[in-house]
Amino acid sequence: MTSTGNSIGVIGLGEMGRNLVLNIADHGVSVTVFNRTPEKTKDFMEREAKSRPIRAASHLTELITGLRRPRSILMMISAGSAVDDLIDNLLPLLEPGDLLVDGGNSFFRDTDRRERKVSEKGCLYLGLGVSGGGFGARYGPSLMPGGSSQAYERLRPILEIIAARVGGEPCVTYLGRGSAGHYVKMVHNGIEYGLMQLIAEAYHFLKQGLGLTNEELAGLFTRWNETELQGYLLEITARIFLQKDVLSGGQLIDHILDQAGQKGTGRWTSINALELGIPVPTIDLAEMMRSLSGFSEERRNIQGLFREPPRIFQGERKRLIDQLGQALYGAMILTYGQGFALLRKASQVYEYDLDLAEVARIWRGGCIIRAALLEKIVTAYRIDPDLMHLLSDPVLGDEIKSLHQILRRVIKTAIDLAVPLPGLMTSLLYFDSLRSAWLPANLIQAQRDYFGAHTYGRVDRPGIFHTNWERD
Ligand code: 6PG
Repeated sequence: MTSTGNSIGVIGLGEMGRNLVLNIADHGVSVTVFNRTPEKTKDFMEREAKSRPIRAASHLTELITGLRRPRSILMMISAGSAVDDLIDNLLPLLEPGDLLVDGGNSFFRDTDRRERKVSEKGCLYLGLGVSGGGFGARYGPSLMPGGSSQAYERLRPILEIIAARVGGEPCVTYLGRGSAGHYVKMVHNGIEYGLMQLIAEAYHFLKQGLGLTNEELAGLFTRWNETELQGYLLEITARIFLQKDVLSGGQLIDHILDQAGQKGTGRWTSINALELGIPVPTIDLAEMMRSLSGFSEERRNIQGLFREPPRIFQGERKRLIDQLGQALYGAMILTYGQGFALLRKASQVYEYDLDLAEVARIWRGGCIIRAALLEKIVTAYRIDPDLMHLLSDPVLGDEIKSLHQILRRVIKTAIDLAVPLPGLMTSLLYFDSLRSAWLPANLIQAQRDYFGAHTYGRVDRPGIFHTNWERD
């Protein structure tokens, strides 16, 4: 460990900050903490810090002057303007060579802007994506650092000891310049939105179309989690179905309003994918469904207008349930595929020079989208770092060859049962479009040229063409 590596300042004692401090301190690194609300600091010091090497500072100057030079300061505060305000307050106190780390879910463009500002003072900056919620932060998150490589090297010993480990390897690596870390975290969250939507649809189908009870759902998701579907989100879903409700004595899941919230990272992924021209339709759809879920009054009214008796599946249930599991797996591959396609493009456009095998590797542990499937993705990118698309990988491509047929069958049944599976369906449409060597965009070009003289290319000769459609 470097001389500064075993001491760090942490600002912000919210859920993530608190847990990271405990994680760092448990590895013998001394931490000085500061929180804007002194009562929170006091409470943390009394109830959690205990005999760990943690000191509290009562103001920023005390925090900064108490740290060994060059200093390392980790900001664990809510993303947004609060980060800018904090940087403005910190910069006059810092000296060239000091390092600022933003461990929040900051928008990647903000991270680029902040890095420029901080480096004008001769200080170093790291944008650090942290995934795994409070539990992950406490016992091993997946860490996605980007920015100054010198800064990474300085912080590396701490990051490596606190990160989750898979096969003995820490789930952290230097991702690339500028906002690479926060960008990768944003796409992680986009994939997270997609996977959560797919799992929620499987629940919808099983509950409404097949009438499964919460206990049956828990059993099924537990079994699925022992197959190639294995992953953190599936694992917690199985547990969610069994959670008792302390208020009503019933099962908690049935008492939760069906209106999904969000902090915006999934939306950023969709917006940025649109900007880069990379289709991520399952992620877009997940984002859209969270918005649609908010229209509860409209949904209730419209349901009243179109009320009809519930349709329950009458065929062979076990077979359909098995097929649903495989359909879910296929759609998950397609969702990761969209995320990685976006990362590939962003890596070129923003010059991150991402190693996609490494991204998949550090997502295998600690983070919300960790899943057995990531092993296959690691292997795919290790064999071909410039793989055009996950579907071009022979192993994953082979799996999709049979899975898409099953996905199709499940969707047909869901349509007959009037259970909406928009994420599963969108994933299939993405696949069907991507594997169409011909798409009807020739007609769109003809229409554009017809009404706007926007020109078109031809299949049989190079060049740009325009037709006077009404005259020629
Ligand atoms: C993680 C999570 C975490 C958080 C997100 C998603 O990787 O630990 O993604 O960052 O849960 O903010 O939250 P929303 O669903 O509220 O956007």
